[in-house]
Amino acid sequence: MSKKRILIVDDDTYSRESIAAQLDEQYEVDQAENGDQGLAKLEESDFDVILSDIRMPGMSGLDFLERVTVTRPEARVLMITAFGEIGNAVDAMRKGAYDYLIKGEVKGEELIVRIERALENQELRRENTRLKSELGKRFSFGNMVGKTKVMEELFEMVESVAQSRSTVLINGESGTGKELVARAVHYNSPRANKPFIKLNCAALPQDLIESELFGHEKGAFTGAVKQVKGRFELADGGTLLLDEISEIEPPLQAKLLRVLQEREFERIGSGTTIKVDVRIVATTNRNLRDEIEKGNFREDLFYRLNVIPVQMPDLRERKSDVVHLAEFFLERYNQENDKSISGFSEKAMEVLMSYDWPGNVRELENYIERAVVICKEPQVTESHLPLEILTGEPRTASSGGGITVGTTVREMEKQLILKTLESCDGNRTNAADTLGISSRTLRNKLHEYGMSGIFKKGGNGIAETEAETADEE
Ligand SMILES: Nc1ncnc2c1ncn2[C@@H]1O[C@H](COP(=O)(O)OP(=O)(O)OP(=O)(O)O)[C@@H](O)[C@H]1O
Ligand SMILES: [Mg+2]
Repeated sequence: MSKKRILIVDDDTYSRESIAAQLDEQYEVDQAENGDQGLAKLEESDFDVILSDIRMPGMSGLDFLERVTVTRPEARVLMITAFGEIGNAVDAMRKGAYDYLIKGEVKGEELIVRIERALENQELRRENTRLKSELGKRFSFGNMVGKTKVMEELFEMVESVAQSRSTVLINGESGTGKELVARAVHYNSPRANKPFIKLNCAALPQDLIESELFGHEKGAFTGAVKQVKGRFELADGGTLLLDEISEIEPPLQAKLLRVLQEREFERIGSGTTIKVDVRIVATTNRNLRDEIEKGNFREDLFYRLNVIPVQMPDLRERKSDVVHLAEFFLERYNQENDKSISGFSEKAMEVLMSYDWPGNVRELENYIERAVVICKEPQVTESHLPLEILTGEPRTASSGGGITVGTTVREMEKQLILKTLESCDGNRTNAADTLGISSRTLRNKLHEYGMSGIFKKGGNGIAETEAETADEE
């Protein structure tokens, strides 16, 4: 084993040399004459224990200590103080010193014992940190269920990519767990203690996305009453999740490209360039290559994002996980609802296994939550499961406005879009306004739900064609 490293910081040459002489057989010892020199040595290499005089010309021992606790929190610092100045030493302990030695009194074997004690403490702290990070690991994968080979491979991949700073692009159907994976990437990375910031690009109009991303100065536009930091700034040192990235339009895509390339940008209305260290994770439920083909997505941006592609498997491709997920959610909603339902009847499980899961894990989670809430028996049976999964037929659109538990978010969204379009006589621009989404998003959603053709001709004769909608861009 290599020798432990010790740094002695003291302006008094005699005292420094004499301590060094007592230690240099057992340890690797280096010396510094003052705080500045000490910090410089710490920049160059690591030390396990630092002995520092309290009283020094220039930077005081206490100031030096304060710097060390920030830059080298692992190092144990022992302060050297004159007899009669113990008060200073107590101050130092409060500021993070591990121990103190009285000048000229602590020597020989006693000195070694005190240093060994500091080293032991350091070892313990290291071990604790390691255990904690392992716990963190288990926790962050602990809430992702998957025993199938694809999922196990995915977990392994996430764990290893988390260590890097490379951009991750997660592609998958709605409800497959894209956001969970994004979080796992962050919380398993060296950035775990720094912010995880998310922006849902589908939820906001373009100009708002821009100001959310980059921030703005006071007066940059009407309504900009004060300076606001953007999410890139907020995420500095951490991770930024750009959810549903395909919903960003080409002009903003160009600006995003620059940040990805240069790691710098300006707030809206400001000429000052801001540099950030942000790891980007983006998600999409569209195939971005198709979007490139259609001219909706910049190819150069795609390549910047697609450094580490992660493909989320659909739930129907990993049916055996349905059992584990169902049990996992049963446990979760048992706890949440103070119930103790023990499991699923054979028939209920059969039904769950034979369903196609268009809404993936989220849909399953919704159904189990619903089942737990309504179930009064010791077991979930098929009577607690919604009709469409029993028949395999998706629920037909009800004309009433009521919301039934068990309806997927996707289905709700589809119904809401249809109803809004109806009430706007098929005018997509008005419907998009009413829904608070862009025409582009609306068009994409109609396409996604296979409803593109339905409202091409407005009910009151307002004709809207694909070409016209495309003109808006
Ligand atoms: N492997 C999994 N284990 C446990 N829970 C999961 C898993 N995958 C997804 N979930 C749960 O399913 C729900 C949907 O997951 P998530 O929000 O990550 O999906 P998504 O792919 O981002 O969906 P969308 O595209 O609709 O935003 C969440 O409640 C999440 O906790
Ligand atoms: Mg999501």
